Amino acid sequence: MSYSLTFHGHSTFSLDLNGTKVIVDPFLKGNSPVAVKSADEVEADYIWLTHGHGDHVADALPIAKRTGATVISNFEIVGWINSNGHDKTHPQHLGGGFQHPFGYLKMTPALHGSMLPDGSNGGMAGGFLLKGDKNIYIAGDTALFSDMALIGAHDIDLAILPIGDNFTMGPDDALLAVNYLKPKVVVPCHYNTFGYIMQDADAWAKRVDLETDAKPVVMEIEETIEV
Ligand code: NI
Ligand code: MN
Repeated sequence: MSYSLTFHGHSTFSLDLNGTKVIVDPFLKGNSPVAVKSADEVEADYIWLTHGHGDHVADALPIAKRTGATVISNFEIVGWINSNGHDKTHPQHLGGGFQHPFGYLKMTPALHGSMLPDGSNGGMAGGFLLKGDKNIYIAGDTALFSDMALIGAHDIDLAILPIGDNFTMGPDDALLAVNYLKPKVVVPCHYNTFGYIMQDADAWAKRVDLETDAKPVVMEIEETIEV
């Protein structure tokens, strides 16, 4: 069994789940020079979309059409993907999980907006909890909420949390989130992409190290770690 995680910048990650390729919230083309990987070269069997904002769905349609990947997101975003010419989708919604071939994937709540780039209704923002060989929580864009303690009951191996502040949790709230979630490893995201969300991730990681039981990993762009 082998899971790995690759960081492409902002909130864009690839997961390799025993050979099944997942890309989460693809935002590559519009994120130059932070993102160095091209949307034309990423591999995907599945595309997971946490919410409808442009910095999360920007490259979803082109990647879906090129790779034939199945898009998993909330009902409204999946409808938007369908009406833009891609049929391979699986709609879910907050609190709902499904046993996919790669593992059981549940959509979790997030406190955030979700309007799509063309103004379409993107439903409610969410996150993902994968229960597979390892348990992975991807918070998506969200404020801190104390129900993260309920998600933390799932024995989280890896949590991916926004720390950028301004649009999502900042460093202080993300530290509280780590205390609710109690992951073995935590990876920060959604920072240093554009002006409002500049943060010192290494300083945050030091605090995680000192103040929680989680192991922080600040990933470089295109770095891959074993999960
Ligand atoms: Ni957002
Ligand atoms: Mn965002």
